[in-house]
Amino acid sequence: MEGPQENAEDELILSSLPREMGWAIPDLYLFQQFWCPSILIKEVNIFQKQFEAKDSDIFVASFPKSGTTWLKAITFAIVNRQCFSSIHNHPLLTSNPHQLVPAVEFMYRGDIHCPTTEPRVFGTHTPFPSLPNSIIESKCKIIYICRNPFDIFVSAWTFFDKIKLEPLSTLKIEEAFEKYCNGIIEFGPWWSHMVGYWKESLAKPNKVLFLKYEDLKDDANFQVKKIADFLGFPFTQEEENNQVIESIIKLCSFEKMKNSEVNKSGIIYQFLEKKYFFRKGETRDWVNYFSPSMTEKLCKIIEEKFGGSGLSFMI
Ligand code: A3P
Repeated sequence: MEGPQENAEDELILSSLPREMGWAIPDLYLFQQFWCPSILIKEVNIFQKQFEAKDSDIFVASFPKSGTTWLKAITFAIVNRQCFSSIHNHPLLTSNPHQLVPAVEFMYRGDIHCPTTEPRVFGTHTPFPSLPNSIIESKCKIIYICRNPFDIFVSAWTFFDKIKLEPLSTLKIEEAFEKYCNGIIEFGPWWSHMVGYWKESLAKPNKVLFLKYEDLKDDANFQVKKIADFLGFPFTQEEENNQVIESIIKLCSFEKMKNSEVNKSGIIYQFLEKKYFFRKGETRDWVNYFSPSMTEKLCKIIEEKFGGSGLSFMI
C-alpha cells in the first residue's frame, strides 16, 4: 500500500506531464512519449521497474483494437495444446482470452492474476521503448499484432464509446478523428507504437514476430504455423495430419468466440464488458464510416509517419 507521501509524489509527477482527455479514460498523460491512461500510469511504472521476465515468457503486444483478443486466444491455444487436447473441455470455452492471458498493466492493478504455469503468456499495450529491461535482456518472445489504421480507428471509436468512464460523453466521429490524427488516444500515437515494434522485429527477428490482422484473416493456417514455429512449439506432421491447426483456428474464430456463453456477458478488468471485444471482426469496415476527406487525411498521415520504414498497409 502506498502512504500519503508516495501519493503526493505521484500527484506531483503527474501534474508535470502534458494531459489530454481520453476516449474512454478521462485523463491521458504523455508519459515517456505515449498517451498513458491515468488509471494505468502507476502500473506501467511498476511493470517497468519490477517485472522479472523468464526466458520462457511470451508477450502478446498490440495497439488497442488491433486483434489482441484473437491473438491471445491463438497463442494460448498453441502453447497449451498438449494439456488440452480435447477441444470440448478447452479453457477458451469457459474463460475469456483476457483472463487466460492477462494484460500486465492490469495485473498490477490487482484486477487479474499472474499466470502460474509456464510458459507464462501476457498481453501488453505498452510501447516497445517503455518495456522493462528484463524483457529486452531475457530470451522471452514478443508477438506484435498490427492492424491497418483505418480499421483501428473505427474499432476504437465504437469500442471506447461503449466502455467510457464518467464524466466522458460520446465523441462525435469528427472529434475522435481529429484526436486520432494527432495521435491522442489511449496508448497513442498509434504510428510510433507500430514503428517501435516493427523496427525491433527487423533488428531481432527471433525476439519479435510482427503480424498483421489482415494476414491472419487472409491465411490463418499459414500464420498459426508461423507463430508456433517462432515460439518454439512447431506442429508435428502427425498434428498437421490430425487437423490440430484447423481445430485451433476454429476454436479461436470470431464466430465461435463471439457466440460462446462465456463471452456474452460479464466484466473483465473491473469495468470492461467482455461482449464489447467482439464487434464485426472484419477487414475494411472503415469504408462504411470514412468520408473522402477523412480518407485523404489519414492516407497522408500514413505516408508521412511510415514512409521509409518498410511498413505498409493494404488499404
Ligand atoms: P472490430 O471492432 O473491427 O470488429 P482487440 O482485441 O485488440 O481489442 O481488437 C478488437 C477487434 O478484433 C474488434 O474488431 C473485434 O471484433 C476483433 N476480434 C475479436 N475477436 C476476434 C476473432 N476471434 N477473430 C477476428 N477478429 C476478432
